[in-house]
Amino acid sequence: MSSLLAGKNILIMGLRNKWSIAWGIAKAARDQGANLIFTYLGEREKDAVAELAASLDSSAIYSCDVTSDNAIDHLFTALKQNYGVLHGVVHSIAFARAEDIQNGVVNTTRDGYALAMDISAYSLAAVAKRAQSLMTQGGSIITLTYMGSEKVFPGYNIMGVAKAALETEVRYLASDLGPQGIRVNAISAGPIKTLSAKGVKDFSSILDTADQKAPLRRRIDHEDIGGPAVFLLSELSRAVTGEIMHVDCGLNIMGI
Ligand SMILES: NC(=O)c1ccc[n+]([C@@H]2O[C@H](COP(=O)([O-])OP(=O)(O)OC[C@H]3O[C@@H](n4cnc5c(N)ncnc54)[C@H](O)[C@@H]3O)[C@@H](O)[C@H]2O)c1
Repeated sequence: MSSLLAGKNILIMGLRNKWSIAWGIAKAARDQGANLIFTYLGEREKDAVAELAASLDSSAIYSCDVTSDNAIDHLFTALKQNYGVLHGVVHSIAFARAEDIQNGVVNTTRDGYALAMDISAYSLAAVAKRAQSLMTQGGSIITLTYMGSEKVFPGYNIMGVAKAALETEVRYLASDLGPQGIRVNAISAGPIKTLSAKGVKDFSSILDTADQKAPLRRRIDHEDIGGPAVFLLSELSRAVTGEIMHVDCGLNIMGI
């Protein structure tokens, strides 16, 4: 074990199973000595998250549905009592209804739009608001985005709109929280097979395109995201905030 995050309390939000991007980040953070705290969404996901947490020497799992202010308040009250100080937060959460991801932005319903924005974008601000009072030694907040915010990916639709909001939110939160020594950044990850990605139409052809067109001629894997996440959570990135870092084997730079 190395020590870039030794003694740091890092909250991981968005672990569902071993395919989750949050799992790659959690493993890399643990390898660097972090004390990991996890949230899970609902009883259905509790056991799986508890098992994964235990394999990284953590028994700290807390329920949190980010659509509920009460649930977020409850989480941070418990974290304050149990840990006092938080050094990092990984926000790896997104959701939109399948029909809103698949049917084109032009067909998005008002409540489908609001739901996607609430969970995928607003929740970062809601979490950052509570986390700041525990980040008394400074801190680092990271979130996950996708280049569907920058260019049109048929089949991504409302999530692209939500990711654009999320990325702008990262810059405003970085400005709001910078004076307290709290940094806010995003990783724009290349396509990677997860449960959420299954909702995106023709996702396997997006993966194939990454293999063929990315400058490094391959798709990313979970370990590829873990390293940059550790960088952003650690002191190595102490002067980096408000940044959207592409971790995609260079795919985003290609015009065709
Ligand atoms: N898979 C990809 O290709 C890819 C690429 C770039 C960015 N991302 C982003 O990475 C992040 C993680 O997604 P993933 O691909 O690992 O999929 P995943 O399904 O493993 O993770 C999504 C997580 O969001 C959580 N979540 C959904 N609604 C929630 C709510 N109301 N409250 C609390 N948690 C909630 C789920 O429980 C799950 O743990 C997302 O923001 C996603 O958009 C994914």
